[in-house]
Amino acid sequence: MRIAATADLHYLSPRYSAMQEQLAQIRDQADLLVLAGDLTNYGKLSEMEGLLDSLLPLRLPIVAVLGNHDYECGAEEDLMRMLTQEGIKLLDGTACEHAGVGFAGTKGFPGGFGRGALTAFGEPQVKAFVQAAIDEAMKLERAISQLRTEKRVVVLHYAPVLDTVQGESPEIFPYLGSSRLAEVVDRHGADMILHGHAHHGSADGKTTAGIRVHNVALPILQNRQPAAVFRVFDI
Ligand SMILES: [Fe+2]
Ligand SMILES: [Fe+2]
Repeated sequence: MRIAATADLHYLSPRYSAMQEQLAQIRDQADLLVLAGDLTNYGKLSEMEGLLDSLLPLRLPIVAVLGNHDYECGAEEDLMRMLTQEGIKLLDGTACEHAGVGFAGTKGFPGGFGRGALTAFGEPQVKAFVQAAIDEAMKLERAISQLRTEKRVVVLHYAPVLDTVQGESPEIFPYLGSSRLAEVVDRHGADMILHGHAHHGSADGKTTAGIRVHNVALPILQNRQPAAVFRVFDI
């Protein structure tokens, strides 16, 4: 299967008109499209409508997770419904299969990496924040456990490893992802993790167990190849 992946499109109408030609190429180059969050800029229904108007004519199977920007207006439930009503597989601690390949996904959460990860100690507000990161990791665990396929792809918005946030300011690393997500994937196994969110990070990395991780945030794709709006992976 050829998987086209992209993230952080932050839908803006003028930008999309300019992208339309490149987006149309997905159809010839891939069998399925993965959207790794931040589909919209402010989580507005009108932004999602515009995005769907651009993507649905491609007539490709689409697997998506939401990103933090898609939560900004508090309309995430409506956005999810808009996607699923159009046949898009929206993964929120859930899994799906397409042509023998399994996809497990969730948005993820910040919290930091390895020994730098924030722990649930002290004030209730800190505990609530850490619990949200743990909850996302548990959602991912439930999703992966559902898969029975040999080939598995994990889709996240937040980064699961430090490798693919390298390039961002070290001060903000803990806000870009959580290694709790990678620990889950390492325990259950997968062929590849796709994520976004770290716009100025790095394209490729690995988990501790050696699972490949790809940051497909739009600015990263365009660093590799100007005007690119997706990257194709074979699995
Ligand atoms: Fe983003
Ligand atoms: Fe984001």
